Amino acid sequence: MGVEIKERRVTDAEFEEMTAFVFEYLAASVEKEEEGGRMRWYPWHSAEYRHNHILNVVELATEIAREEGADVDVTRVAALFHDVAKLETDQELHAEAGARVAREYLESRGEFPESFIHQVCRAIEQHSFQGDLTDLALETQCLIEADLLDKVGANGTALMLLRMGYEARTHMDTDEMVERVLERGYNAASRVESETAEGIAHQRLKRVKWFREWLEDEIAGMGD
Ligand SMILES: [Fe+2]
Repeated sequence: MGVEIKERRVTDAEFEEMTAFVFEYLAASVEKEEEGGRMRWYPWHSAEYRHNHILNVVELATEIAREEGADVDVTRVAALFHDVAKLETDQELHAEAGARVAREYLESRGEFPESFIHQVCRAIEQHSFQGDLTDLALETQCLIEADLLDKVGANGTALMLLRMGYEARTHMDTDEMVERVLERGYNAASRVESETAEGIAHQRLKRVKWFREWLEDEIAGMGD
């Protein structure tokens, strides 16, 4: 009748299956990796970190999409696959490679309409975009905002402290390193467009600022 069929939802079971696929894919990329690659010892190059980051981004992106009226299924599936190729590909190519992995998966499983696959893959492909987020589809914007937000708060601070351990720094460097988390947070806050993401960014920045203030308050010789 020429009426477009209403797109079916991605079921929870399908989403779970996709999650398992993405995690297996990441674990397999690490196994294939050759020893001693550049900075491979940093915590964020492990499959465990990447799993966790992806789950955080799925949660944040879903929240933003819901509040901002974006398509939640497109957004959460794109968030789930956005870094699937991160451990097997160079940083500059991982977005495109991830979109290819997602397309292959979505085309071969279930009966997802092409329009859905297209929107998901477009968001993944563009998630490293450095320009103005309002130039992008709303779902892509939600994904990028979520990806930025996962690095700016308490979690970003914890990772920075972990990195200090890997770099054999002492805790006296903490204020300087936390300052870097704050700078990244200000950058992220200036890039996000939606009110929801702005709210989350400010809340998370506040946590990092508090942490830095507490450090300066407790540790002699810090922050003078
Ligand atoms: Fe990411």
